Amino acid sequence: MRIELQQITKRFGQVLANDHVSMTIEAGSIHGLLGENGAGKSTIVKVLSGFISRDAGSVLFDGRPANVKTPADAIRSGVGMLHQDPLDFPPLSVLDNFMVGRGEVLSKGLFSGLKFVNPDRARREFHRLTEAFNFSLNPNNRVSDLTVGERQQLEIIRLLSLGVKTLILDEPTTGISADQKTALFNAARQLASEGRSVIFVSHKLEDVEEVCDRVTVMRAGKVVGNAEIPCPDSILIDLIFGKELALPMKPVTRQAEPMLELNQVVVKDDRLTLNMGDFTAYKGEVIGLAGLEGSGQQLLLLLCAGLIKTAIGTVVIDQSDMTQKPYPEYIKHGIGYSPADRLKDGLIRGLSIHEHFILRSPARKLMIDWKGSHQQATEAISTFNIRGKPSSHVERLSGGNQQRTQLALLPVPLNLLLMEHPTRGLDIESTLWVWQQLIARCQTGTTILFMSSDLDEIMQYSDRVLVFSGDQVSAPIESSKLTAEKLGQMIGGRFVEAEPASI
Ligand SMILES: Nc1ncnc2c1ncn2[C@@H]1O[C@H](COP(=O)(O)OP(=O)(O)OP(=O)(O)O)[C@@H](O)[C@H]1O
Ligand SMILES: [Mg+2]
Repeated sequence: MRIELQQITKRFGQVLANDHVSMTIEAGSIHGLLGENGAGKSTIVKVLSGFISRDAGSVLFDGRPANVKTPADAIRSGVGMLHQDPLDFPPLSVLDNFMVGRGEVLSKGLFSGLKFVNPDRARREFHRLTEAFNFSLNPNNRVSDLTVGERQQLEIIRLLSLGVKTLILDEPTTGISADQKTALFNAARQLASEGRSVIFVSHKLEDVEEVCDRVTVMRAGKVVGNAEIPCPDSILIDLIFGKELALPMKPVTRQAEPMLELNQVVVKDDRLTLNMGDFTAYKGEVIGLAGLEGSGQQLLLLLCAGLIKTAIGTVVIDQSDMTQKPYPEYIKHGIGYSPADRLKDGLIRGLSIHEHFILRSPARKLMIDWKGSHQQATEAISTFNIRGKPSSHVERLSGGNQQRTQLALLPVPLNLLLMEHPTRGLDIESTLWVWQQLIARCQTGTTILFMSSDLDEIMQYSDRVLVFSGDQVSAPIESSKLTAEKLGQMIGGRFVEAEPASI
């Protein structure tokens, strides 16, 4: 199906999110959509998939005007969208989620006209699609136990089972493993080879280069250019930001005094037992935690934040034994946490940026400091360049602006900053900017532990790296001694030089 978007305009209050956007997506192609945070990418794909209504402009499917008012209309016309934040039902099983939106209309008998779902048929369809795309999903698992990559795979096969011919992927490679990315790209190529099309929204130029046939670039709500792939990075960066970007160098920030000392630590959850042994991180140091999602990196971060307790061993932070202390003591002790799932664990849906700053103020005070917190929110919006106002509800911010808000809420100074995917969803310029801020924190002695699925980010910004694989942890490795190849091998379980579990 050939899709034409013509002069689409969409305004949210004062914000002109799409300003006469026109683009064409050819059948059988993978079409990239690039642009800085807040450029209007999610808005245009939500218009196309019926999640929001346009103010003006037209949408044509195979040359005919399309009347898409709801997501169900879009799916009936063959357009389905995988959202930046998953829209599934975590308490339900994988198969139950797969069946959402399905239904066969009874044509005969007393109940004719009613819709029903045939679970056996759905299960067969589920197996057919998971096999066709080489996705590893168990229909009986609960969605709440799946990784982001698995939730994506589920949503993709659900949409395909509903007959979708154009699949929209909004930032699909943030937070998935290298294997899941390979499976996703193979699925996209397979769909394109069958004459279907994929719209691929991303910030990662290497992903776009790898999988797309052509790209459209948006800036400030407008289309600023189209390019055929391959296309040099410098040209794309120039289109996205309207300028060249300089890579910052990471200065030496590691000091001699320890900040975090783990002594003979063993930590557990219901799936993993992680034997961390002895490990020391120093003041000003950046420790990167590499590994497939769910290999224990998060367990280590939660432990250091006081959100889970050790099974065995002690945790010392800045010379205080914190092992059995409650979480509020960790906060008082200057420990900050930035979670990956912004709208679930980091921010609160329905509250404004201002209200988040109110919540952050010390609880001891008798009265809410409305004025002070408003001032803080206004300053954070300007310093962190958040596209929003103090009164903007966080769920209405673009993905990248939610991440900036979450980072703006972290107190200064901190002893230990624990981060899940610090730049997930951020455009390249914002990523550089965030790391500048983080490095500035390290220069004042903050120690950072961060997990990331972006190996380049791990290698570029860490002083030392811990690799997690299965239930093993490598000894810390100086990042200067790492190559992407070696890191990849270790993530796959081949601990080349370092012995496991002997930090
Ligand atoms: N429901 C909404 N209400 C108010 N403003 C909105 C809403 N949705 C989006 N916006 C605003 O429209 C602009 C474009 O947002 P959009 O989500 O399309 O950006 P994006 O290009 O997808 O950015 P990102 O890369 O950060 O995901 C932003 O300024 C955003 O704050
Ligand atoms: Mg977006």
